[in-house]
Parts: sequence; C-alpha cells; structure tokens
Amino acid sequence: MTHTGQRDVVVVGGGIIGLAIAWRAVSAGLSVTVVDPDPGRGSTWAAAGMLAPVAEAQFGEESLAALNLAAVRAWPGFAAALEAAAGQPVHFRADGTLLVAGDPSDRAATDRVLAFHQAIGLAAERLGARACRESEPLLAPGISGGVDLPDDHQVDNRSTVGALLAACETGGVLFVSDEVTRVDIRDDRATGVELSDGTRVDAGAVVVAAGSRSGALGGLPEAVRPPVRPVRGVTVRLQAGPGIPRLRRTVRALVHGRTCYLVPRHDGGLVLGATMEERGFDLSIPLGGLADLFEDARRVVPALDEYSVVETTSGLRPGSPDNGPIVGLTEVVGLVMATGHYRNGMLLAPLTADEVVGLLGSGSGSSDPSPSPFEAFRPDRFSPVVTGWLGTDS
Ligand code: GLY
Repeated sequence: MTHTGQRDVVVVGGGIIGLAIAWRAVSAGLSVTVVDPDPGRGSTWAAAGMLAPVAEAQFGEESLAALNLAAVRAWPGFAAALEAAAGQPVHFRADGTLLVAGDPSDRAATDRVLAFHQAIGLAAERLGARACRESEPLLAPGISGGVDLPDDHQVDNRSTVGALLAACETGGVLFVSDEVTRVDIRDDRATGVELSDGTRVDAGAVVVAAGSRSGALGGLPEAVRPPVRPVRGVTVRLQAGPGIPRLRRTVRALVHGRTCYLVPRHDGGLVLGATMEERGFDLSIPLGGLADLFEDARRVVPALDEYSVVETTSGLRPGSPDNGPIVGLTEVVGLVMATGHYRNGMLLAPLTADEVVGLLGSGSGSSDPSPSPFEAFRPDRFSPVVTGWLGTDS
C-alpha cells in the first residue's frame, strides 16, 4: 500500500533540518511528505537554540566556521519569514553571547581560542572580569574575565519547531507518523521509502534528514551511507520565579576545563547545557553529567540556586568524522543527504534548507552561480566515489 500517491519529495526525519527543508520545499511549489514518529521531539527538542558560529569554532575548523557565520547571517530573514508564514513567534534574539572563564587556567584557554578566532576574522573581544560583571551582573565575583561574542545569538528551539509545524501544515506538507525502515532504490534511483507498518511513500526524491539515525537507515548502499554517530547531550530547563533575577543574554563558561552554557528565554526560562557523551543510541540521563553541569553553572551564576528545575532532556547530536554537516547529492539519483549537523543543527537549518531545495530544483546543484557554502561539506568527501545525478563524472 502507498501513502497519498506519488510525491515530489519525501523527507526522512522531522527534526529542525527536515522541517526547515519541508517548509522551504513546499513554499517552492513541491509536494512534500515528512516521515517521523514524533516531529520536532528528537534532538531538536533537547537543544538550547544557540546560534553560535564563533563559540563553536574550533582549531582547524576554518571552513566550518565560515559556513556557520554565513548561517547566523541567514537567521534574521529566516525567522521573520517563518513567523510571517506561521503566524507565531520564534523568539530569535540577536543580543550576542558572553564567554566567561571560571579561573586563571580557564582564562589562559579562552585567550588561546580568542587568538584563533581573531586570526580567522571572527568577532570576539577580550573583557576583564569587571567588564564582564558590568555586562552581566549575575556573574560570580570570582570569575577570571571573558570574551564578548557579538555574532553568537539564540532562538527558542521549541517555538521554532512549533512555527515550522504550523507553516508546513499551512503549506500542505503531509506528515506520516511512522519510522522509515528502508529507502527504496531501483536502477540507481531513489523511488521512495518503506515504513515500519509495511506501507510506502513513493517520491521523486528522498531527503535523508534523520539526524544521528541517518546512517542506520535500511536500503542505503554503503557508498552513500552517511558516517554519522550519536553524541548524547543533556540539557536542563530551569525557571526563574517572580522577583528572581534573570540573565540578560546567553552566557557560556569554561570552568576547570569543562564547558557549559546558560541560555535565558523571554519568559524567565533558562536552558542549561550540555553534556557530551558517546554512548550509542542511549538516551538515559546519568547523574554524574548533570551534577557537573549544575556545579559549573552555579559557580559562574550563583543566582541559579533560586531557579526551579523544570525538565531534564537528552538528545543525540548527529556527529560526523570532521564535525561538519553532510549536505548534498549522492551518486544515487534523487537521494539527497542533509545530516551530520552535530552541534549546529539549529544554526545551519536555514542554509541547509535553501541548499537542499536548490538541489531538488535542479538535480545537479543550485541555479545560483555563486559557489555553495556547502562545497566543503558534500557527502562524497567521505567516499572515494565522486559522481552526480546526471550520470556523468564531470
Ligand atoms: N550546540 C550546543 C550543543 O550541541 O550542545
């Protein structure tokens, strides 16, 4: 049995990436089905919503930093268009981030990263402890200084999911609440997907946006199977009651060599994150990681003691071998990868969606003659085979 007849596109996975692609694709006139048992409730739900091209830029990841910087610049327009389409807010905030060093040795580490960021042209300014505390009065007196990161912003990830679901439904995206068991490929062409209930969705193109599960999908030839792995992260949702002081903007901290972040919301909520653990597809929440997060966050912002714990959530980041996303065509005609976004799924969603919709439209790449920001992040960088949909190697 098939669902709904032939579609232009079936998107495997309804996280931030799959939903953004579905919305942009339906807006471009394509018929779209999204298959996910619970759209928006995977790692997207656990995320904090940081849009952090600078804080996330690591030594040796210059290409990824450039992509991430382009992505944060796309966010204001994406947020405005999504709010208009959905009729509801996403709470995008362009108020920057403060990176704080807990002690002198953390300060030495933030200085090294600052030098790297400045060397590759990212906006970052060293601040003394007093300047940090003037900027953010809730910081502990004992911090060792910090760095102002004016290009690192935030959005409410859950509001964004709500808006994307609304915009997709308004646009006519069909949602199928099931798991994809295999991608159907016939004569080197993707023809749709099979679901766990035995039904099919037939489509002219299949977009794999299944996050950390993308590599475990049935039916993918080894040459195009994306090398993603799950990297667990636990976040904690806190709430400031009436009269409890609130952070002004996002604070990231290095405390005795461990990282944490505190992302304040418009309504007094605050997201504290996040652990980084490689434990396969295990979503449990060990006490040790939580205890470290609480200890580090309280050391930097003692007022957290007055906040209530509302929720702990774990999610699985889709990690790739070089920490970069895996976005583009594969050697299977009609099979497009949009996965491996690792720590930057929220940030990269707008650019990824536009890239994928461009590829779906042309079958061979965006009609925009300027080089794609994803050139260094194509699926075939992990494979010796380099071909395109059009059946040529050129
Ligand atoms: N982007 C933050 C995290 O992955 O924890």
